[in-house]
Amino acid sequence: MTDNINSTKFEPVLLGRLGRPNSASLASYQADGGYSALRKALTMTQTQIVDLVKDSGLRGRGGAGFPTGLKWSFLPQNISGPIYMCINGDESEPGTFNNRILIEEDPHQVLEGIVIGSYATRATTAYFYLRYEYGRCYRTLQKAVDEMYAAGLLGKNILGSDYSLDIHLHRGACAYICGEETGLIESLEGKRAWPRIKPPFPAVEGAFRRPTVVNNVETMACVTHIVNRGAEWFKSIGVPKDPSNPRDAGSYGPKLYCISGHVNKPGLVELPLGVTARELIDQHAGGVWKGRKAKAVVPGGISMGFMSADELDTPLDFAGPGRVGCLGLGTAAVVVIDDHTSMVDVLYNCCRFFAHESCGQCTPCREGTAWSTKILERMRAGRGKIGDIDLLLEISGSIGTMPGTTICGLADGAAWPIKNAIQKFRPELEEYIRSGRKAEAPQLAGAH
Ligand SMILES: Cc1cc2nc3c(=O)[nH]c(=O)nc-3n(C[C@H](O)[C@H](O)[C@H](O)COP(=O)(O)O)c2cc1C
Ligand code: SF4
Repeated sequence: MTDNINSTKFEPVLLGRLGRPNSASLASYQADGGYSALRKALTMTQTQIVDLVKDSGLRGRGGAGFPTGLKWSFLPQNISGPIYMCINGDESEPGTFNNRILIEEDPHQVLEGIVIGSYATRATTAYFYLRYEYGRCYRTLQKAVDEMYAAGLLGKNILGSDYSLDIHLHRGACAYICGEETGLIESLEGKRAWPRIKPPFPAVEGAFRRPTVVNNVETMACVTHIVNRGAEWFKSIGVPKDPSNPRDAGSYGPKLYCISGHVNKPGLVELPLGVTARELIDQHAGGVWKGRKAKAVVPGGISMGFMSADELDTPLDFAGPGRVGCLGLGTAAVVVIDDHTSMVDVLYNCCRFFAHESCGQCTPCREGTAWSTKILERMRAGRGKIGDIDLLLEISGSIGTMPGTTICGLADGAAWPIKNAIQKFRPELEEYIRSGRKAEAPQLAGAH
């Protein structure tokens, strides 16, 4: 870890302009030095920008943590015809709201990164795919895009350069699966958001069958600051590569952590990658509410699974949650579950969510999410059997891209909370079944 992991010394960058008067306006952004990164980028070659982003170690903030510069370099070189940039603002992972705050409060920071990223990847059209429910974001973004066109920051010959770019806003289709990059592309094309079988990956064949880059909103905001402050600055924040693990790409840069659930002060904080859940809860969220203790913590959206109370000192970087059996860091949306809450209820809510959101293309995902929900309904109705736990485990072990049975990662995300709940809270689940008690709100059963 670098010194900058010490969050008390850390100066927010991504949230640095929050609270400024009219922080979303172009005039206020430019008064704070906005679009200096774009001016600088336009004096660089595309390759230089891709190399800069590679050197910074930036990994995508949308959930998978894929290295951004590397993704950009997968685009085919020397091809004719359009290349597209898609910005993923679908943000449907439970507990996740960092993209919303960035867009509502400081849209130009994100848009500047999008123009730089589009220039670097030679894209001439960028589509901003925005969760439909985010009405305020949509209005804020549209206003910001209009301001950019009027100021020569978008459209033909941006800032007098040879580069031209159009940005189109596209409102989403109200489904979690629209956030999966190929589901997003299908939805953008006006179809049902059914994820595509990969390969081909979007870099080769994406929107309208053309090479396409899909990046998250926070990822693009990071690009703006990397161009402004340099790769070394970005690398000085967070957790360096583990030298004993050649596959570790490190966890560099600032990160927006969403904190919600049973805490006194839910909210969004910007900290160096690698803070612990304990620090987030105690120092930034006012502690667990009602004087209670944490029983479990979701590290990064419910698809990542659970950390138990004795795992709260795990660093929330790209590698940390995996070391304690979680799927990964995900969206860094930390949800705290107090010790008065039943893990059967928590797991039921997770399963119900995934059963509702499965697009249904793959049998293991469609059936596995539905059956796990039914099993948990039965448990909550006081009719569970001890064998149900192993049945749930079997289902969770056989769905997902990891066992190779499904098209997209939704199924892995559905499996992980089940695996972790059984691995870490089995005695509680068994006690629940043995007691034969009924859930306090069984009317939720069947609500999906
Ligand atoms: C079911 C599912 C939902 C997803 N939802 C989102 C989302 O809402 N926003 C997002 O940026 N990435 C989401 N992703 C990840 C995207 O597929 C993709 O990896 C990401 O947008 C790439 O951007 P990044 O490299 O900047 O992180 C989702 C993935 C899956 C499997
Ligand atoms: S894994 Fe689930 S959500 Fe993903 S494509 Fe298959 S059925 Fe749809």
